[in-house]
Amino acid sequence: MSTHFGTMTASVNMPEPARDALNIFPIVINDGIQYASTLGAAWASGRVNLIGEHTDYNDGYVLPIAIDRVVVFAGQARSDGIVRLWSTHFQAFAQFSLEGLPETFEQQSHILPAWARYILGVIAELTRAGAVLRGFDAVVHGDVPVGGGMSSSAAIEVATAQACMLFSNGRFTIGTEGTTLTPLEVAALCQRAEHIASGVRSGILDQAASCLGRPGQAILLDCRSLEYRYLPFDAPGLSLLVIDTGVRRELANSAYNERRRQCEEAAQMFHDIIVQQDQAGHTIHALRDVTREQFARYGSQLPDLLRRRAGYVIAEDARVLSAAKLLEEGLIEQVGPLLWQSHAGLRDEYEVSSVELDTLVEIAWQVPGVLGARMMGGGFGGCTINLVHNEAIEALSQAVDREYPARTGLQASIDICRAGSGPGNAWSG
Ligand code: GLA
Repeated sequence: MSTHFGTMTASVNMPEPARDALNIFPIVINDGIQYASTLGAAWASGRVNLIGEHTDYNDGYVLPIAIDRVVVFAGQARSDGIVRLWSTHFQAFAQFSLEGLPETFEQQSHILPAWARYILGVIAELTRAGAVLRGFDAVVHGDVPVGGGMSSSAAIEVATAQACMLFSNGRFTIGTEGTTLTPLEVAALCQRAEHIASGVRSGILDQAASCLGRPGQAILLDCRSLEYRYLPFDAPGLSLLVIDTGVRRELANSAYNERRRQCEEAAQMFHDIIVQQDQAGHTIHALRDVTREQFARYGSQLPDLLRRRAGYVIAEDARVLSAAKLLEEGLIEQVGPLLWQSHAGLRDEYEVSSVELDTLVEIAWQVPGVLGARMMGGGFGGCTINLVHNEAIEALSQAVDREYPARTGLQASIDICRAGSGPGNAWSG
């Protein structure tokens, strides 16, 4: 028997937001059409990234954790090729057609609200991959903070794939054996959807984390080979706090693509230098291939800016592997110092932090019992991740309430996250 990714769960095991969404569906979409299925729900988690920032698109390593927050689709299959959606967060409808996809993506996405473009993007990519789909009506709901740095977009993308599988009624399947698509094929396809929907050339971190999540586990992912390993992340005395700066910057998208170009340029320069001087037949495809010794030896031949960008990425990859080793040995507390170091690199060498992110990390630094903190995600806004002794949560939260508004004029919000499950789906009742 094949192992299905996102196993059919008895509705008893549904995440809370899925049950809520099933109740909302008949209230908001009730025009009495004849559906082709009963009511069902499909969901996927957001993520946090313990360490390994801006390493994914350099073919490096990441160490994310899927969280216990989900985006949910609840609805019914239609007998035609129309998809109608109601977003509880945006309080808005969106509608598009499966007709002519993926070719009609541009034309249709043009008139959709931004949140629905990600959904259309995934459906276009599923169609490109040969999945046979059916239209559906659904409520899109969830408890991943939208734009809060926990990858609500990856959660919506992976949940879209789950919803399409559910409503296709077995015409296509996602799983590890004998299925149409594997979880990592879904992640890659959702990553492409993110590219076409947002114009950001993001890596695979967010979508892979959402696809592979397991309670109590972090995921060590090699972003080149896509091999992954689960590592225990289960320390009852410790918590992961996500603190949102409350700031989103438009600049983030263009700066992200710019960093990616700089890394590609730096990798190309290392390639040229090393092939010329080293003669060892060593090929550099990405910064992942530059060893720390090579960086120390040849780094000074790069322009200062590119040298700093590359230096950060090479050191961050090494930190991910150190953190993975510590988790394996059950030494979670010792991951803390690596988080501070990661933040310093992101701030000073990679230059993707912001005054607000630095302020939150400085506040956390002063609170005894905070083991480590750093900015998380693309940067320029969004949130920090904090590894904290349970007894220090209150002190950290008070320090943030007291100092953050005084220093920035803004309010921060704090969330405690736990390692959650991968995607799922179920028929109601
Ligand atoms: C965003 C992208 C990811 C990754 C991070 C930085 O979250 O979507 O692919 O590059 O930034 O680590």
